[in-house]
Amino acid sequence: MILETKKRVIYAVTAVILIVSLIFTTSFNQTFPHPQCVLNQKRPSFKQDPLRINERNVLFPHEEFILKNATIIDGDGKISSGDILIKNSTITEVGNLNYDNIKTIDLQGKYLTPGLVDCHSHFGTRAQPQLKFTEDTNEYTSPVTPFMRSIDAINPRDPKLASLNANGVTSHLVLTGSKNLLSGESYGIKLHRSPNNLVEEMLLQYNVQADKLVRWFKIAYGENEKASGLPGYPVSRMGESWVLRKAFEQASSLKIKQDKWCQKPQGDYPTDYELDTLVDILRGDLNVNVHLYETYDFETLVRIANEFEFHIGSFHHALSSWEVIKLLKEHQTSVAIFADEWGGKKEQYEATVNAPRILAENHIPVAIKTDHPAFPGQDLLYYAQIAHNFGLPSEMAISAVTSVPAKIMSMNHRIGYIRPGYDADIVVWDNHPLVLGTKTQEVIIDGIPMFQFDKLKPTPPSSKAMQRVSSEINVTSDSFVITGINSSFLRNSTSLNIDPQSQEVVVVDQGELKCIGSATYCTFDSNVPVVNLENGYILPGITAVSPDVGLREMMNEPSTSDGDGSTYSQIIHAKDGLILDGLVLERLQNAGVSQAITAPIGTHFQRGVSTRFSLGEKTLDTSILDEEVAVHFTIGDSAKSPTLPTISSQLKELRDFIAQGKYPHLPIAVHTHSKPVILQIINLKQSVNRKIIIIGGQEAYLVADELSQAEIPVILAPWRCTAKRWENRRCSPNTPLMEESSVNILHRAGVKFAIGQDQFNSVRRTFWEASLAGKAIDGFDLQQTVDLISHNVDEIFGLQESKNLVVFDHNPLEFGATLAFSFSNGRLVKVFPEYEEEIKGDGLFRGI
Ligand SMILES: *[C@@H]1O[C@H](CO)[C@@H](O)[C@H](O)[C@H]1NC(C)=O
Ligand SMILES: *[C@@H]1O[C@H](CO)[C@@H](O)[C@H](O)[C@H]1NC(C)=O
Ligand SMILES: *[C@@H]1O[C@H](CO)[C@@H](O)[C@H](O)[C@H]1NC(C)=O
Ligand SMILES: *[C@@H]1O[C@H](CO)[C@@H](O)[C@H](O)[C@H]1NC(C)=O
Ligand SMILES: *[C@@H]1O[C@H](CO)[C@@H](O)[C@H](O)[C@H]1NC(C)=O
Repeated sequence: MILETKKRVIYAVTAVILIVSLIFTTSFNQTFPHPQCVLNQKRPSFKQDPLRINERNVLFPHEEFILKNATIIDGDGKISSGDILIKNSTITEVGNLNYDNIKTIDLQGKYLTPGLVDCHSHFGTRAQPQLKFTEDTNEYTSPVTPFMRSIDAINPRDPKLASLNANGVTSHLVLTGSKNLLSGESYGIKLHRSPNNLVEEMLLQYNVQADKLVRWFKIAYGENEKASGLPGYPVSRMGESWVLRKAFEQASSLKIKQDKWCQKPQGDYPTDYELDTLVDILRGDLNVNVHLYETYDFETLVRIANEFEFHIGSFHHALSSWEVIKLLKEHQTSVAIFADEWGGKKEQYEATVNAPRILAENHIPVAIKTDHPAFPGQDLLYYAQIAHNFGLPSEMAISAVTSVPAKIMSMNHRIGYIRPGYDADIVVWDNHPLVLGTKTQEVIIDGIPMFQFDKLKPTPPSSKAMQRVSSEINVTSDSFVITGINSSFLRNSTSLNIDPQSQEVVVVDQGELKCIGSATYCTFDSNVPVVNLENGYILPGITAVSPDVGLREMMNEPSTSDGDGSTYSQIIHAKDGLILDGLVLERLQNAGVSQAITAPIGTHFQRGVSTRFSLGEKTLDTSILDEEVAVHFTIGDSAKSPTLPTISSQLKELRDFIAQGKYPHLPIAVHTHSKPVILQIINLKQSVNRKIIIIGGQEAYLVADELSQAEIPVILAPWRCTAKRWENRRCSPNTPLMEESSVNILHRAGVKFAIGQDQFNSVRRTFWEASLAGKAIDGFDLQQTVDLISHNVDEIFGLQESKNLVVFDHNPLEFGATLAFSFSNGRLVKVFPEYEEEIKGDGLFRGI
């Protein structure tokens, strides 16, 4: 009975609810549309507001202060002088300010820029050091994962944070990975440590009203996505585009259903948790970022975007973007590009250092980005400097790492400029930001100084930015004289005819180097043409110590290389695999590299015997300087194999190799970064009479005295920290985080060292890397700096100085210099080449 009554009551209540909701949905629909239907009609919109207060101000206790007498380079690259008032984590006034009772910091004319913005990062999702089980960038269980969100994998305590913001980078767009086509939602963060270790508190849009939130999305297209070989993945570009179209078609159908429902609601509002993000893209609510490279991939993506009527906000990586200017203009899009990346895969083969300049000349907004940690995020400014060196005007080089990436993120109403109403993210530099080696002196994020101004030096900055200018040199005969050599770094030991007192004139007779010396020492016919360099630099042959130079064209294309000898048990020789032509050697030669020491390809234990050879020679006979240089071994994680499963077994094998007296005339080169392994090598060295060299050595500075005592030299490759792996996680972040640089520690301890690289496509930065090292060592002069990439290498490997040399129009240890002449074995091999030609399409494969 009671049960019956309860049932009746339930029935009655249910009936009333049904009737009421029916009345509501039918008669009130016109006046009270479903809130979702209202939202569907709204797009997020922003405008710059000088009275805006940074929403993140609630996170940090803050002080008011004035930065006085600054040289302000704004996000548009324009320079002015003035003062800045910072209040409530926000820039509130800029100009000539006169306030009493506000804390004032006198900058004495130092350069300021907005905090740098990197719109392509994997911060926190690929935290460093990268470990097998902390890699969270790609959810590659399906090519279609639009419902993934990078926020769910960002570790706010990624140890790289300090190094990033110390180098002036204050905002990142953290994208999902590129193994998925529809990869997922991205999140903008400040590189500002959360007081409570919460990623939420790192979000750029922390405390922003829900209806004002910007959302970002990542699509990836091209080689990565078809190359995975994973189940359910496409294996061709056709398959990739079908995957995209199918998913957008499903989203499009859902959108139509939703719109119909909003016209005439019946049943529940149609949604699908897996498709909602794509529907939002179709509604124009997400900022779409596409990873791709090839010209025809741009075309495919625009074709798909047009078919489904959405807009691509920016193309990332985009190394071939300079070839499809018309398409980019029609789609009204922007480009976030690498300044200096090439050589990895076919889709990176058309890369040119001229791309940022060409895009800018064609009014395509161009951002420079890193892909952190694939490329070290702390180097963002360095890449802008490189783009400037190759012709991107200085104003645009600054905007490429401030306002343009901010615009790409639709955040240019709050970051990327030093203006009232903008977040107080400001970097104080010790010099013009486009000068090589410029460092931060203070970094302010959300109005909070990261260094408490204790790094500020009282001296005002000096240098101006330098850009390469292609001097015209007309050499019509192969007999001529070069004058105006202002600086020489040649050593007296060369077997060339060199005046020991002065080297201001170079006489070339029928392509042969006849004499280098003063005008009185070198006699020449007064009729020969003269090339006056005015501020020329002459240097000995620069040696690349780097994997794969001369053995490989594209990293990911096995058919372009000698191959990997890891499964072959005999000792192989790099000289037998040399490939003397191709783009790699040409690019390195144009950058002023004369010769290379290369070991056989691989990161396995017994690599084989390296060779030294000259670049720009046509035959093995003329190219090879030393057939055998050293026997190479890798000791570490990458060398673990079924037969040598442990580091200890690798060390035993090395000890046996030495005990058997194999290749007694050659030094042993051990590839490692790791301090524990270096300590093992020091120990080994004490019991054997054999020259041992460490290659890699990022943790060597931690055992500098021990290395010096054991007389073990080091090729630092590269010398600056990458901290990618467990084995180099203790590499020094150097200044401004450390008082003393790793190279200074090694130098002070008396360790013999030189500078190499760990990838062939970094080798053309050799001069700048050496220069940065030289600047980081107390009292180091330019000769010692040049020695780091020439003389020291010869000494470490016990090689004779070659008869190669290079002549530059300016100081190649700074930006702005161009190679003028290069000589191989005393013979002219290159005259003022364009640093890099703009080569189109099939032209790339010429001569290969
Ligand atoms: C800081 O901003 C908040 C709003 O976010 C406001 O309530 C507060 O008054 C501001 N403080 C100052 C000193 O302007
Ligand atoms: C700003 O600093 C520079 C460099 O120290 C100095 O020459 C100049 O007089 C200063 N200007 C003002 C307005 O203080
Ligand atoms: C070099 O040669 C080019 C073309 O032959 C000519 O236009 C240019 O004026 C020459 N430059 C100099 C500095 O002689
Ligand atoms: C070369 O020799 C000259 C004179 O003998 C000497 O002054 C100079 O220091 C030497 N240079 C180097 C780099 O050894
Ligand atoms: C040549 O070098 C000297 C010192 O190394 C320097 O003072 C001078 O300005 C240089 N000449 C030119 C034209 O740059």
